[in-house]
Amino acid sequence: MKYCPIFARMYKRSISIGIAAVAAVVLYHTLTAFSAGQVLWCDRPFRTDTIQQLQRIAFGSCAHQKKQEYILADIARLRPDLMIYLGDNIYGDSKNIRVLREKYGVLSCKDEFRRLLQATHVVATWDDHDYGQDDAGSEYPLKKESKDLFLEFWNEPKNSDRYKHEGIYTSYYYGDSAHRVQVILLDLRWFRSPLIGKDYHYQVNNDSLAVMVGAEQWAWLRHELSRPARVRIIGSSTQFCTDHNGWETWSNFPREQQRMLDVIRETRAEGVLFISGDVHYAELSMRRVPGLYPIYDMTASGLTQVELKTSHNPYRIGQPINTRNFGMIDIDWGKADPELLIRGFDYAAKERIVHTVRLSELRF
Ligand SMILES: [Fe+2]
Repeated sequence: MKYCPIFARMYKRSISIGIAAVAAVVLYHTLTAFSAGQVLWCDRPFRTDTIQQLQRIAFGSCAHQKKQEYILADIARLRPDLMIYLGDNIYGDSKNIRVLREKYGVLSCKDEFRRLLQATHVVATWDDHDYGQDDAGSEYPLKKESKDLFLEFWNEPKNSDRYKHEGIYTSYYYGDSAHRVQVILLDLRWFRSPLIGKDYHYQVNNDSLAVMVGAEQWAWLRHELSRPARVRIIGSSTQFCTDHNGWETWSNFPREQQRMLDVIRETRAEGVLFISGDVHYAELSMRRVPGLYPIYDMTASGLTQVELKTSHNPYRIGQPINTRNFGMIDIDWGKADPELLIRGFDYAAKERIVHTVRLSELRF
């Protein structure tokens, strides 16, 4: 065809107009979507197959969505059967639920997070920052909206009891009766009474009406601890095995801390082991309490957050880890007396805490 300059100009202009029109449509839909309250969440490829036997459990906490989370790739490489998020899974910290949704959105689109979801089963509880406010308890005004968001983000099955009761506490059971592991995830935010004192100088609250766990959750927990299991991992977003140190721990509510020990003793629940987060370092603690077997608490915090100062802890075994870290428990079911290998890994996936407990040590 013969070249016609007038036709060529018209052709080029029509292409430019076409591109501009497409761009305008895309921009319109983007703006419409955001103005309609939609926030970008990437799909989250949660595993839905069944865990036949639980042998390796990873756990961690305190992950700021603005920071890189390559440590999740280290966790995935170790091929745990289960990963437990112990709270502060994002730093939401807002009284605007849209802001919380946007911050979950950032986590949902991270490659390392999505790869972890593909590599292993993931369950979660929350702590203050993903609940929505630093050190918040029952008074947080958006707790219902935050709960809806939490359950949506973590892909809670539609038939879950978590939708039916206050708070997000729950339990999971894995393996046959000879290898049964119970994972209990507490909610230490929804019911918790206000703290006394200022940030990091919190005072002990001995008021008989002050709660961390709340009557409904206590009744549920007592029932759970009465059910058969060989190993019971209790996920507590804040540290259980510490004395009062001014920070947020169970020791701010000593009556509740004692009640937990009483409930374990009264239900004759054997095989209990606590895991916790929140403090931005890792440490293993062990308390000896009259009438009970040794109570361990492996703290793993944080996946991104680091605190170089470690609080006084007379129950600590060995050294803390003051870098990014995660925790792991391996259960060796092959032994006549199964062994629990409790470990803390630093940011280079190097073992820094290693401690073995025989299951027979966690008996009355
Ligand atoms: Fe926290």
